[in-house]
Amino acid sequence: MADPPRKYDIVVLGATGYTGKLTTHFIAQRLPNDLQWAIAGRSRAKLHELAAELRLSHPDRSQPTIEIVDLEYQKQVEGVVQQARVCISVVSYWTVGTTVVDACVRHRTDYVDTSGDIPLIHSWIKKYHETAKASGVALIHACGVFAGPEDLLSWAAACELRDSFGESTKEIVLAVKELTSDPSGGTFESILQGEADQLQIDQANESKDPWHLSPIKGTSVSPQTNMFHLRKDPDLGLLSDSTVGILTNRAIVHRTWGLLQGSRSEYGPNFQYNEYQSVNSTLGGLSELIKSSVIETLMASPLLLRLLRLFMPAPGSGPDIKQSEKIPVKFQAIAKPDNESSPKVFASFSYPSGSYHTTALFLSQAAASLLYTKSLEGGLKGGCLTPATLGPDFLERVRSSGATITLSSPRQ
Ligand SMILES: NC(=O)c1ccc[n+]([C@@H]2O[C@H](COP(=O)([O-])OP(=O)(O)OC[C@H]3O[C@@H](n4cnc5c(N)ncnc54)[C@H](OP(=O)(O)O)[C@@H]3O)[C@@H](O)[C@H]2O)c1
Repeated sequence: MADPPRKYDIVVLGATGYTGKLTTHFIAQRLPNDLQWAIAGRSRAKLHELAAELRLSHPDRSQPTIEIVDLEYQKQVEGVVQQARVCISVVSYWTVGTTVVDACVRHRTDYVDTSGDIPLIHSWIKKYHETAKASGVALIHACGVFAGPEDLLSWAAACELRDSFGESTKEIVLAVKELTSDPSGGTFESILQGEADQLQIDQANESKDPWHLSPIKGTSVSPQTNMFHLRKDPDLGLLSDSTVGILTNRAIVHRTWGLLQGSRSEYGPNFQYNEYQSVNSTLGGLSELIKSSVIETLMASPLLLRLLRLFMPAPGSGPDIKQSEKIPVKFQAIAKPDNESSPKVFASFSYPSGSYHTTALFLSQAAASLLYTKSLEGGLKGGCLTPATLGPDFLERVRSSGATITLSSPRQ
């Protein structure tokens, strides 16, 4: 029996947060004008303020309905989620994130989030993947600036290698060219909560396993760096293995690989993903290394993290929006084939606005892809999935929103 029609196409939970607000502005500006959507949160006052802001900024566009929901109450969450076809969750994942995932699986509502916490995603996979798969509910995780573009670019480059040259991909080398990683208050809070959570502590070592989120294990990963953590790539130049998002991005890209392996969309059996910061000189590489060691030390010390909190934005706020939207996000990647005499594929991603705007774009267009198309790669129907499993439709939606994604190879 067909599902009864739902009141909303999309509901945004956590709409009043820093990333949530940016996402609602993106939806109002870019998604079709007949969209039926809702903004949901616990604060009536904040939701009315946001609704007024959206009316003022986008007076001719579809305006959202307000839904009051305290995510600590499962029944309230279910009450909202069951009215929507797709749920975007931009909430504090460690505290209330699981309630939203649970409600979406229960009420067969497709779902997108930006959770980048490997232990948390791992726990959701264990708990919900099979049920969601059986009932055809797509749960797209980590669909923000970490790990949306990295996953999509890796998938696009591996597809190009396979479809244009009949080659399997041995390695994706991704270089971060430009990316600001100043955290929002919510992101910092999430780091704090993660550090205090038993799940994170229990899984600290497993999270470093490159295949921890993949349904199957891949080959051993070799970052190929020297004693200064640098790698010289003939095409991408000097690279340092000190990127902020490496663990999450690699785990997600490898999950995509594992989900697609054995299907017509597979990358190849020897696949591995390695990510680096692009640097100009050995000195630049050393400074990146020092920076990442300092961040690592801070992250490992609950006391230092608490001290640092004094200098961080409060939850709900973040980097200055006008400033950050002027700082582009840029990645370059190379897909290297198993057969070394075959051509490589060069890929790039760039978006003129900042990293949180990139997150808003990825969340909104992933929701649109689920809503209007839902054509998942590799014959997937549902489960705990990744951004790239949304396939060509998602790629085109991201491109049509002002992001540039290029693919080329020397022979073309
Ligand atoms: N992977 C990525 O690339 C990426 C990018 C951006 C953000 N993120 C992640 O996204 C998450 C949100 O970040 P943010 O900076 O937007 O955080 P934020 O500004 O603190 O927003 C959190 C949202 O969750 C809501 N919330 C929390 N507890 C709630 C409850 N009990 N009931 C109802 N609503 C509740 C808050 O509501 P109130 O407004 O009422 O407080 C707010 O709307 C963080 O975990 C961050 O790490 C990831």
